[in-house]
Amino acid sequence: MRLELQTWHKVRDYLSRSKGIVVPIGSTEQHGPEGLIGTDHLCPEAIARKMGEAKGVLVAPTIQVGMSQFHLDFPGSMSLRPSTLMAVVRDYIASLSRTGFERIYFLNGHGGNVAPVRAAFQEFFAELSMTGRDKDVRVRCKLKSWWELSRVDARRKALYGASEGFHGTPSEIAITQAAWPDAIKEFQLPPPPSHGRNDLLEHAGDNYYEAADYRRRFPDGRVISDSALATRAAGEEFIALGAEDLFEEYERFRVSD
Ligand code: NI
Repeated sequence: MRLELQTWHKVRDYLSRSKGIVVPIGSTEQHGPEGLIGTDHLCPEAIARKMGEAKGVLVAPTIQVGMSQFHLDFPGSMSLRPSTLMAVVRDYIASLSRTGFERIYFLNGHGGNVAPVRAAFQEFFAELSMTGRDKDVRVRCKLKSWWELSRVDARRKALYGASEGFHGTPSEIAITQAAWPDAIKEFQLPPPPSHGRNDLLEHAGDNYYEAADYRRRFPDGRVISDSALATRAAGEEFIALGAEDLFEEYERFRVSD
């Protein structure tokens, strides 16, 4: 159930039985020559909306632009500064909690968002703690990236192994193919060259430097990922598994202390 398609009366009734909501968050950045620029927000959005429709859980408007400064040497990429993203996330939490939500689950699609989003949670709580308003508010926030959902993670590793890589991954491309079949692009490139173990260790978790450095290291945009292994059928499977995993996790979180 998408928040933007409800009325305030509907949301008031929902809040009388549940204080939980899911927020998809991702980015708008190049995903290699064949991957969609919106991949990182389209993936968590597809999983969250599938779960929300099946289970009657509210899903907030997607945060579509994230912290992607290292992609800015590629046309079409957009980024918020870490401080801007933190302000956006903090205001999402503050406004949702002001109207009665107490369990806010962020489903993430971009590794570069993890540090700013976690810091934003602490900004929100620090404000409560330091002004003494912490005694009236019982908001809890959680962040999880869709590829960490347990059944999705097992399936993507089984299907793709080392070809999954880090960026323009076949699993994320597959999800966009299932969610937006009319936008599928044709694959023509061979797998990108391996950059060796050092680059693997150095860049795990989107730990990059400035945009020009990224472009120099990864000229076609992909990071070790063989995007061409993506299929629409696999994407449908990832979305279905992800929706199941997400609901289990969300429910545990929703009823938690
Ligand atoms: Ni991505």
